Parts: sequence; C-alpha cells; structure tokens
Amino acid sequence: MKINVKHGSITDIACDVLIVNLFEGVKSPGGAAAAVDKALDSFISSYVIEKEDFKGKLGDVYVLPTYGKIPADKIIVVGLGKSEEFNLAKIREVSSKAIQKAISLKAQKVCSIVHGAGIACLDVAESAQMLAEGTILGSYKFTKYKSKKEDEKAIKDFEIVESDKSKLDAINKGIKKGIIIAESTNKARNLANEPANELNPAKLAEIAKAIEDIECRIYRKEDILNMGMGAYYAVAKGSENSPKFIHMIYRPSGKIKKKVAIIGKGVTFDSGGLCIKPPSGMVLMKDDMAGAAAVLSVMKALPKLKPNVEVHAIIAACENMLDGNAYRPGDVVKAMNGKTIEIDNTDAEGRLTLADALCYAVDLNVDEIVDVATLTGACMVALGRMASGIMGNNQELIDKLISSANQGGERLWQLPMYEEYFDSMKSDIADFKNSGSREAGASSAALFLKEFVNNVPWAHIDIAGPAWLDKEVKELGKGASGAAVRTLINYILNTK
Ligand code: BES
Ligand code: MN
Ligand code: ZN
Repeated sequence: MKINVKHGSITDIACDVLIVNLFEGVKSPGGAAAAVDKALDSFISSYVIEKEDFKGKLGDVYVLPTYGKIPADKIIVVGLGKSEEFNLAKIREVSSKAIQKAISLKAQKVCSIVHGAGIACLDVAESAQMLAEGTILGSYKFTKYKSKKEDEKAIKDFEIVESDKSKLDAINKGIKKGIIIAESTNKARNLANEPANELNPAKLAEIAKAIEDIECRIYRKEDILNMGMGAYYAVAKGSENSPKFIHMIYRPSGKIKKKVAIIGKGVTFDSGGLCIKPPSGMVLMKDDMAGAAAVLSVMKALPKLKPNVEVHAIIAACENMLDGNAYRPGDVVKAMNGKTIEIDNTDAEGRLTLADALCYAVDLNVDEIVDVATLTGACMVALGRMASGIMGNNQELIDKLISSANQGGERLWQLPMYEEYFDSMKSDIADFKNSGSREAGASSAALFLKEFVNNVPWAHIDIAGPAWLDKEVKELGKGASGAAVRTLINYILNTK
C-alpha cells in the first residue's frame, strides 16, 4: 500500500472508498463529512444518522454508496466517539477500524481525511502520523502460510486528502514518521508470528545481518563459551539448533546524546526443557522471541529515523529444548560476570539467557539498558494482555519508558521489586537459584536480572501478556502484536 497526500476537496476525488467521520451523538456532521453530506443530498444526516440511528461510537463504521453523486464510489463513515474524549490515540484506533472495513469491501484505492484534528485542535503532523500508523497496523495480516493468497485484494493506494494547503508539509512529515514506526511494528509481528520450525536462532541472526546501515556481529557457540556465557549456553545446549548471540549497532553520524543498549529475549521456542510445559502452555511458545523481534525491528527503523543516540541491540538467541545434552534441574551454571546459579526449573530459561546478555551490555559501557522479554506467565496473570510490566533500578528511566509507551499507544505498568521476593531464590550450593516461589513471579524474575546489571541504569519490560493477542485490541488484530516496538522507538527519539 502506498500512502500519499493530496491537496484538494474530498468531493472531487475519485476512489473506491472515501473515509469520513462523525463524533458521537452529532446530528448534523461537520467538516469534511458535512461536505459529503451536502453532495449526497443530506443522506448522512437524514438517513444514516436519523433513520439508521448510526451514533458515531468509537470505531463503529457505516458504509453507504454515493450513486455517482461524487466521484468516490462508496463512503465509510467512522465513529470518533465522544468529542471530549478524543485524542491522538483515538485517531490511530479509528483509522485501523476504517481501513479494515475498506479491505473487506475489496477497495483498491482509498481516500481519507485526517480524522478530527481540526475540531479537536490536535497537532497536524502528529494527527497524520496516527492516521498512517492506524492504517498500516490495521491492514496487517499474516498470510505467508496460506496457500490461497488474498494479496490481489490488498489496498494499493491510500490517499490523504487535505483542502488547506498550509497543512500539507506537516501532514507529509507526520505520515513519514508514522509509516516507519508502523512498518517496524509489523516487521516484529511477522517475526513473532513465524513458526519455530522456520525461525530458529540461525535464521534470526541472518535476518539481523541483512538489516541495512546497521553493524552486526554474530557470535557462535564457541564464542559464547569463550566469553563465559554459561547461563545462556546451558539453556541452548539441549537443542539441535545452535545458539547465535546477536549484537547490532546503530551509530548516528552526528554528536551522540547517549549510548543505550536494548536487549530482547530471543528464545525461538520454549518447550520448558526437562521441566517440560504441558501442551496448552507450549503451543504459543514460538513467540518467546517477541522481545528479540521488537529490538531487531527497532534497529531496522533507526537509520530512517536518524536519532542522535548510539543504540546497541543484543539478542542471546537459542531454543529451549530437551535432549540427552539438555541442562537439568540441580545443575549449577556460571554467568559471564562470575555469579553461579543453581537450576531450579529449566522453564525459567529466559532470565538465564538475559543474564549473560545483560553482562555483555554492561561491558559495553552504555548509559542505559532496557530489556524486553516474554519472561513470566505471572506477569500475564497480573496484568492480562492489556499492559506489560515494567521494573528496574532507576525510576527516571522507568518513567521515561512509561511515557514513551503511552505516546505510542502501548501500556506499561510498574511492578514492585521488594528485596524479600528474592528470598525464595536463595541456594544452598550456588549464589542463587533461577526460580523459587510461584508468588510475585514477575518481580522475582526482575530481581534475578538485577544481579547482572551492575548499577547501570536499567529497566526490564515483561511483555508476556501483550506480545500475543487472542482477540482484536484497539488498532491491533489477533496474533503477534509487535509489543514494545513503539515504546522503544519513542524512548530513543525522546532521549536527551
Ligand atoms: N516464556 C515463558 C513465559 C511466558 C508464559 C510467556 C506464557 C508468555 C506466555 C517463560 O520462559 C516461562 O516459562 N516462565 C515460567 C517461569 C517459572 C518456571 C519460574 C513461568 O512463567 O511459568
Ligand atoms: Mn520458559
Ligand atoms: Zn520462555
């Protein structure tokens, strides 16, 4: 789908579907919808609103034909909800709902206005960015493995129509940013939707290597052992697919504001290991690399967004499997920083891979570290799929991430890191264990990670819930959601 901006009047534009909008409870439409209503002899106000009782509730859509009264073939009226509750995030959401309807109508060329920006006095560039994001996120479907392709039905052109010439530059600027962010999110969705028989650590490394304008180093099994990454290697060694430690670097051309590391959990499949998961818990474990998918996709976006921040992306990719060489409960392993860990549960593998990734990041002398991981079922139990958990050792960094998430339409909820939660992870023979009590599982996992960050400002985002959606949520459909991509991009762009 190509997105561009056109200067003109919507009642003059030829297209299959024209998208206009309506605030909730409004009896006579305003703005662009009013112009269309007039051209259609008041059909929207006298029939759609009056007779059909279309209320304009947030995301509701109504389709009507134009019978040749204007060049557009059909109109989609999308509800904007209550005007007093309208904001940028709602533009993203309604744009997604409208494009989904347009796709179901098999439209090829779709035109839209920038929803509600004028009336709600929102920033023009930001509003256009939301329109682009919602449109691209709403069009996403993972069809790679369907033998019957529906691609020929995909929308080819999406045109944003604006009658006020002075707004065109801002709209263009906004959609450019929106396209980069949404495409990056969809890239992460593609990676996490990919089944584990296709996407193993080597494949993930290949994909990382192929990203343009990014440096990339791949460490193999021997390198991993030489660096002393005994925790990560323990998880990896029970699989036929050997681990790949991936380090990507984005170096800005200008003066660097900060040097940050983003780490993504990259367990391409989590069987649980010898502490094997039941089938119901294992079936979705191809998405246990959703954190890796996010950081990799963020790296792909950075050369286009050009922030003056040096960004290191780190993925300790491996598969948690079980064979004669698999690690066992009771084993003692040593991480890169020398700390020893008694294995209590082979299903608490993510933190072991992250332990060595964190040590590696600390050695890079970065200013801040953010890790993103589908780390605990406990976090999903606590927050559901509507928010990721956030914890860390630096409140300022946590607050920055929370506001960056909100700006991107994502939610982070801070959970506590009370020291007492670590008590159950004490070991008689090693420094500590990799799991303990089932209580406060998200928090104890974060306390485990803290053992490897050496006082560098650090935040941990547990995306176990939001990484995978079992039903539509706002602008996103079912399946992998690209969780944390928008949060991380905004965090990097907001860095001072
Ligand atoms: N990858 C899982 C966490 C997970 C569960 C993500 C459900 C998404 C949905 C992780 O490796 C895991 O198995 N965690 C265990 C830890 C426990 C053994 C301490 C868990 O949460 O049960
Ligand atoms: Mn696990
Ligand atoms: Zn896992």
